[in-house]
Amino acid sequence: MQPRVLVTRHVYPEAIELLAGRCEVDYEDSASGIAPHDLPARIADRQALVCQLTDHIDDALLDAAPDLKVIANVAVGFDNIDIPAATRRGIVVTNTPGVLTNTTADFAFTLLLAAARRVAEADRFLRAGLWQQWQINLMSGHDIHGQTLGILGLGRIGQAVARRASGFDMRVIYHDTQRAAQEVEQELGLNYASKEELLRAADFVSVHVPLTDDTHHYVGADELALMKSTAILVNTSRGPVVDELALADALHAGLIASAGLDVFENEPEVHPALLQLDNVVLVPHIASASIATRTRMCTMAAENAIAVLTGQRPPNPVNPEVLGKL
Ligand code: GLV
Repeated sequence: MQPRVLVTRHVYPEAIELLAGRCEVDYEDSASGIAPHDLPARIADRQALVCQLTDHIDDALLDAAPDLKVIANVAVGFDNIDIPAATRRGIVVTNTPGVLTNTTADFAFTLLLAAARRVAEADRFLRAGLWQQWQINLMSGHDIHGQTLGILGLGRIGQAVARRASGFDMRVIYHDTQRAAQEVEQELGLNYASKEELLRAADFVSVHVPLTDDTHHYVGADELALMKSTAILVNTSRGPVVDELALADALHAGLIASAGLDVFENEPEVHPALLQLDNVVLVPHIASASIATRTRMCTMAAENAIAVLTGQRPPNPVNPEVLGKL
């Protein structure tokens, strides 16, 4: 009998092709995915789950899945899954690191550039028929070259953002719970700073920490108050890492100059106060959304699920401690 897999919502077809050859697949091929109240019934006899960051996989749901061996998340972040609950049950959780690093770093820079040079605002202005003539100060923004970039969280994506900054002649400082190895600092031309020093000194702050209990509202009113009034904040990590209301207040009051946000506290909702502001670029969680990268994320998740189902070590476990129990 083939192993039984549940795919909770639409994925790139290459992933289904991989799974279909080896498994019996229940595929919910829709953008909205399986409704939370239908998930327990659909997962009940499944051995693998291929899910996305919009699926909340908690303790109660896992109670409904006695045969489950693997949860393959199509994302590098896995804050949508109760990892201790999975680990207690010996269920392997996997993610999709690496493949999206450069695509996401490209996009952090896209937001940084767009926020600094007012691209979205200028586009709205032009489309609204408001452009009357060339003007010396029309849509004047902030320079990027020669400025100081502060990176909060120097993981894979934070490092890739630092690499891009050198092409813009930026000075790069970073803060993380652990200081990077000297070779990494040297190679990327980085200087370590405390969180406060970084917030005070940076012209741009780009956030790359994972969402955990410790990083909820990691950038809130106190942090925003430390930033320069000309500073720009970019968030491509997870929405709850930044206090959205505090950010809206800071942008409104001119405490910081502008922001670029890919992620939000209650996706797909965006705080109404942010929607009122011109000095923030808002996009719908698309930092890793190149066709090639999103396709590869889907096939990686399928490969991780297949590996566990066939008794192999999956390439990307996030709770490797359960692998001994396989
Ligand atoms: C996207 O946000 C991801 O975590 O991969």
